[in-house]
Amino acid sequence: MSESTPKRYHPAHTAIHWLMALLVIMMLGVGKFAMPGISPEDPQKPMMLQSHAYIGFALTVLLVIRLVLRFTTKQPAPADAGNAFLNRVGKAVHILLYVLLIGMAASGLGLFQMANLPAVFSGAAPYPSNFFDYPARNGHGLFSGLLLALVALHVGAALYHQFIRKDNLMARMWFGK
Ligand code: HEM
Repeated sequence: MSESTPKRYHPAHTAIHWLMALLVIMMLGVGKFAMPGISPEDPQKPMMLQSHAYIGFALTVLLVIRLVLRFTTKQPAPADAGNAFLNRVGKAVHILLYVLLIGMAASGLGLFQMANLPAVFSGAAPYPSNFFDYPARNGHGLFSGLLLALVALHVGAALYHQFIRKDNLMARMWFGK
């Protein structure tokens, strides 16, 4: 490891990682399991979608900042899962997590535009009877399923490092010297 390779990620990168983790898990939970159970006629539905859209915008901004930090701050050495294949899978999962988050943000913003959500939120247009009339909805649904699976894999890998390899990898994504 070179002198200039840090032991941890930059504190701003770490703060954004945990904030995004919280918001993405919340959005996946609400989007996949709570929103589908509420009928479009329910007055709660537009309110729920409005919060979803605003948190989605915030996540999009955080994602852009995070990508800038990813390429402008020094990264710790690549993690070692103890096996060349797993190391390659780990790298691929990290890249795919970014790709899917970009896909979620882009398809969400596309839906916002296609379904004219500003008019829906202000009450000037009715709540769409079926979002699947808009092509971006299919992308949003597909990416969210893949994202859910990858988040599960990512959390599983962190726990594997922490409790099976006992290498305290999690400390790299926390604050300290
Ligand atoms: C990283 C950011 C986002 C995440 C993780 C996320 C997550 C989700 C999930 C899990 C669903 C349900 C998908 C399904 O099961 O088929 C959903 C639906 C939806 N999302 Fe997002 N979303 C994000 C950003 C956005 C943004 C920025 C907007 C709009 C401004 C948006 C608008 C919608 C709409 C309109 C639906 C469809 C609701 C329905 O069919 O009733 N999303 N989202």
